[in-house]
Amino acid sequence: MTETSLTTHDLLRQRYGDAIPERIISNAAIDLLLSHRSVRSYSNEPLPEGTLETMIAAAQSAATSSNLQTWSVVAVTDPERKERLATLAGNQNHIRRAPLFLVWLADLNRIAQAAEARQMPHDGLDYLEMWLVGVIDAALAAQNAVIAAESLGLGTVYIGAIRNHPLDVAAELRLPPMVMPVFGMCVGKPNPDRPAAIKPRLPQAAVLHREVFQPEQVPPAVEHYNTTMAAFYAAQRMNVEGDWVDHSAKRVAGPQSLSGRDVLRDVLHQLGFRLK
Ligand SMILES: Cc1cc2nc3c(=O)[nH]c(=O)nc-3n(C[C@H](O)[C@H](O)[C@H](O)COP(=O)(O)O)c2cc1C
Repeated sequence: MTETSLTTHDLLRQRYGDAIPERIISNAAIDLLLSHRSVRSYSNEPLPEGTLETMIAAAQSAATSSNLQTWSVVAVTDPERKERLATLAGNQNHIRRAPLFLVWLADLNRIAQAAEARQMPHDGLDYLEMWLVGVIDAALAAQNAVIAAESLGLGTVYIGAIRNHPLDVAAELRLPPMVMPVFGMCVGKPNPDRPAAIKPRLPQAAVLHREVFQPEQVPPAVEHYNTTMAAFYAAQRMNVEGDWVDHSAKRVAGPQSLSGRDVLRDVLHQLGFRLK
């Protein structure tokens, strides 16, 4: 979503609070990236014709490991299918309401099939490494699609909850073996009555290490971020209990905090990934 009224400095302030990095180079593409926010409320307008194809062209323009292109995507617009997927993915209403729901897939099946057709071996696909390649490829492609959508004034939100019940999702989408839903993505025109805010990120000192990892930088930067997020929650009138460390620690407290995804390794085996 491009906000021509905001300067790069405004965008950086929203992204970092008072921990604004110095020496940021500004241009239209950087401003677009800095403007990102997940959008979970959509207007009733249909998407402009060509939106899907444009997003996919952007996705296919992402880098891809060894040009293997080990990803695919299923575009869902049928309200009944969206309803079933929403139920499977944490009952999230924005999936129902988005005019377009994309399910991004790590797809090792296409190469397996192509190699098999020539009686060529493809045992390398059975290794964890190749599953990771598929997931990375899908993520890079999807993020390019997000940027393309945002450049068109559209809003998106990723849906990791598509992995809550991957076998049911695979059945719903009739996925072949060795194809895994990595995440979903809602796409729609942002509802002007419920604009989404830019969410602050950690100060750069928490994520950027020069030459070698600098562990001493991290705790103060995290502490600073807790303060920034407290101000964000107050400004957004979000009644959030605890700070960012609290939420983040709760999100990873144990297998019970993984929304059923603690069994992912077994599920992947059932989907045909051997993960050697
Ligand atoms: C892989 C992935 C999975 C996500 N899954 C969900 C989800 O299931 N539901 C949701 O509402 N948001 C989901 N999100 C959105 C994040 O909550 C959001 O990106 C994060 O809070 C930062 O906010 P922002 O995107 O507005 O900057 C997901 C994001 C990513 C990258």
